[in-house]
Amino acid sequence: MSIVISPSILNSDFSDLRGELAKIAGADFAHVDVMDNHFVPNLSLGLPVVERILEVSPVPVDAHLMIDDPDRWAPAYAEAGCASVTFHAEAAAAPVKLARDLRGLGARAGLALRPATAVEPYLDLLPEFDMILVMTVEPGFGGQSFIDATLPKIARTRKAVTEAGLDVWVQVDGGISRETIERAADAGANVFVAGSAVYRAEDAAAEVDALRDLAAG
Ligand code: DX5
Ligand code: ZN
Repeated sequence: MSIVISPSILNSDFSDLRGELAKIAGADFAHVDVMDNHFVPNLSLGLPVVERILEVSPVPVDAHLMIDDPDRWAPAYAEAGCASVTFHAEAAAAPVKLARDLRGLGARAGLALRPATAVEPYLDLLPEFDMILVMTVEPGFGGQSFIDATLPKIARTRKAVTEAGLDVWVQVDGGISRETIERAADAGANVFVAGSAVYRAEDAAAEVDALRDLAAG
């Protein structure tokens, strides 16, 4: 299982996105958090900013849409060139149709679950997705503590993927750091989002490498 590191730029310096993105050239993706102040109680950035990020990012963009009505808004992120577009199960009216639309536009399709959302109702949909995002904090803000109670859901998701013989990635997002990444990896995650751990580190590039080494075990 390949280890994928996707630093979140949410807590980077938005006045210098080009410089902040350059720091994570050694990562696999840049994780970009889109929030609409409705699905989550926070507002971050939207499509015009993502389009500029796509122009200057040294790595592919992994868009995490914390928005209402992704059925309407998500395809534009794939059209713009995001390599991966993840929307929330709690917000989508027709998740299978939306996943097919995203794949049809050339993006990887991701399904995100809040900490309180069970994965079981979605296991039948695994073949429609390239990634399941198990949120390890309540979505909305960076810098929160990893919720250990999400570990069984990570394991359940990985088990279902393995049993189905699929190559669906299992992503974790929230509170991932040197202290928590091994727990998430041991539970079965292979894609690691880290925001504050990377951007509050003195050397962001070295932090990406350190996280990768720890996740690889
Ligand atoms: C939170 C976002 C995360 C956030 C993670 O809702 O989805 O991507 O930036 O930040 P950390 O790593 O600081 O928990
Ligand atoms: Zn995120």
